[in-house]
Amino acid sequence: MVADTIHVHSHLAGHPTYHILGHELVLDVPLSAIILSAVGAAFLLRYTLSFFRLILELAILPGRDVKSYKSKKGETWALVTGCTGGLGLEFARQLAKRNFNVALVGRRKSALDEVAQELESKYGVKTQAFVVDVASPGTTRDEALSQIALFAKSNDFGVLINNVGASHNMPVSFAETERSEMNQIIETNINWTLLLTHSVLPSMIARSNKKGSPKSLITTIGSLSGRIPSPLLATYSGTKAALSTWTKALAKEVEGKGVDVELVQAAFVVSNMSKIRRSSALVPTPASFVKSTLSSIGQPRGAQGRPYERTPFWSHALLDYAVGFAGYISEISGIKVIDSMHKDIRKRALKKAERAKAGKKE
Ligand SMILES: NC(=O)c1ccc[n+]([C@@H]2O[C@H](COP(=O)([O-])OP(=O)(O)OC[C@H]3O[C@@H](n4cnc5c(N)ncnc54)[C@H](OP(=O)(O)O)[C@@H]3O)[C@@H](O)[C@H]2O)c1
Repeated sequence: MVADTIHVHSHLAGHPTYHILGHELVLDVPLSAIILSAVGAAFLLRYTLSFFRLILELAILPGRDVKSYKSKKGETWALVTGCTGGLGLEFARQLAKRNFNVALVGRRKSALDEVAQELESKYGVKTQAFVVDVASPGTTRDEALSQIALFAKSNDFGVLINNVGASHNMPVSFAETERSEMNQIIETNINWTLLLTHSVLPSMIARSNKKGSPKSLITTIGSLSGRIPSPLLATYSGTKAALSTWTKALAKEVEGKGVDVELVQAAFVVSNMSKIRRSSALVPTPASFVKSTLSSIGQPRGAQGRPYERTPFWSHALLDYAVGFAGYISEISGIKVIDSMHKDIRKRALKKAERAKAGKKE
């Protein structure tokens, strides 16, 4: 029995007819148009929702603070690599301010002593320094890794900040990159980061795997150079992309064991590495960048739709979101913009080096 006939009108040809629950549904619209509209609506909804979430996360929703990784009893330790300058020094300071004891990893003993002294006197926390050149494979580095593994096993070791990183001295084509520079970048960014994490992970799992025990956190600092392939920084860009994939694989492995693993994305920050001295809306100071990082755990912000990854600082988040917006078009234009930016930076850096050389001769 056919009770009703429902007409959906259009001026297009094709009249698919359906019988649903005794009703005859006649669509005066081609099926292809309906499918296309549904796909379009789904995409629109996805982007609208993710954009609203981005704005809510940046403006309203409180993120989780790193303090949530401390244990209720006892003293929790956080370890920061590359903590004698830039972002690492700020991570050490802001963790100490939250009453974490801080294990410091750097290559200059005198600089580490200064940081230790500052944290102990200003925040009343304990510190432990490990002096190691993380880019030099061999016995000394292996010994440092063993000492850190033992330290993590014998203390309440809750937070690892894989901050240390090396980049190119100036933008340079891959073909012209010195092998020593390539090795420095690969050893620092990848080998050291993986080896260190491997050394402390069993202790973090043992700390957090039991019911009711505090969770542990492994944060690795990535770079938008790893997200958008960056010509003339190919080695750096590749190592940061590798860290992103490694983070996600590891994050899934230990998800059920109480250890949170995340990659934090950054664009430019004032530091020796960026060679930018003045802050602006797009280039925060290490203090502002680290503040947003330590207080927004669990919020992807600019990394909407990308698991185990986040872009905490507001302007970097908007940039990251925009890059992801139009897929291929965004990526190919991003690569083009970065290519010309790096060519320009290289030209200026070479001129500056020439002037410095001429100045020395006079
Ligand atoms: N700054 C940016 O614009 C930016 C953007 C995106 C991502 N990042 C990432 O953020 C992280 C921190 O960068 P940053 O800008 O703070 O760098 P930075 O200012 O150059 O500081 C690097 C820190 O790491 C230490 N370090 C470097 N090589 C080392 C080695 N071989 N052994 C031991 N310690 C070493 C340095 O020690 P010394 O004091 O002895 O030199 C310093 O404490 C890196 O992973 C970087 O890739 C930075």
